[in-house]
Amino acid sequence: MTRAGPAVVIDILTIFPGYFDGPLSSSLLGRAREAGLVAVRAHDLRDFTDDRHRTVDDLPFGGGAGMVLSPVPFFAAVERLYGSVEGRPRTVLFTPRGRLLSQPLVAELAAEPALLLLCGRYEGIDERVHAALATDEVSVGDYVLAGGEAAACVLVEAVTRLVPGVMGNAESGTEESFSSGLLEYPHYTRPAEFRGMAVPEVLRSGHHGRVAAWRHEQSLLRTREVRPDLYAAWQAREQPRGESREPAREHGSR
Ligand code: 6GU
Repeated sequence: MTRAGPAVVIDILTIFPGYFDGPLSSSLLGRAREAGLVAVRAHDLRDFTDDRHRTVDDLPFGGGAGMVLSPVPFFAAVERLYGSVEGRPRTVLFTPRGRLLSQPLVAELAAEPALLLLCGRYEGIDERVHAALATDEVSVGDYVLAGGEAAACVLVEAVTRLVPGVMGNAESGTEESFSSGLLEYPHYTRPAEFRGMAVPEVLRSGHHGRVAAWRHEQSLLRTREVRPDLYAAWQAREQPRGESREPAREHGSR
């Protein structure tokens, strides 16, 4: 019997490969890589240049501030890693002008056998990289980062935890915020009373049905409060004909 290779192979192109050292070797991801479940490699874009100064950027055509990452090393890297542009795997370019990363997109990417992640820096990446190499353009939120490296870490962590075998407890991959479309309910551990703050009685009742109902209720309340957008989407899915089933107000509040 031949030993199965990693379920997902992720290559990252960056001018700061050292940026990934910590995240890639820590915790869940570090163990998943050691176990051979996933392979993640950060490649230095400068290794795919052929001038003495290993130049990866140049002045913008049309003028303006800052430098633009050249398409030349990106294409050279793709051809060296995969043989041809056509042979490349699904390719994510990180840019604030991309589509917002979401759990459905993460799940879609986790189903791919391989991914290529392209990290931008400076003022931007030459448009021909967007046009001819990127299959997906992704942003991780409505704020500005100095480059795509932190965004790539976010994606790698979100994707690899969905790879079969990576999470210890199979259930914990699906039970949390966003897989249900709702935010998570509150968690408690011992002590039952701490600095005047008590664990809700229902969680200590041993009544599984009441515990499940309480948790669901808490998820609804929390989602309605902090993410009305998610709450509305959940309602539209659960009660498409507008049957109103409002969650009960929290005890003690109006
Ligand atoms: Cl993917 N890149 C940069 N530079 N800024 C961002 C981002 C990505 N996502 C949100 N802000």
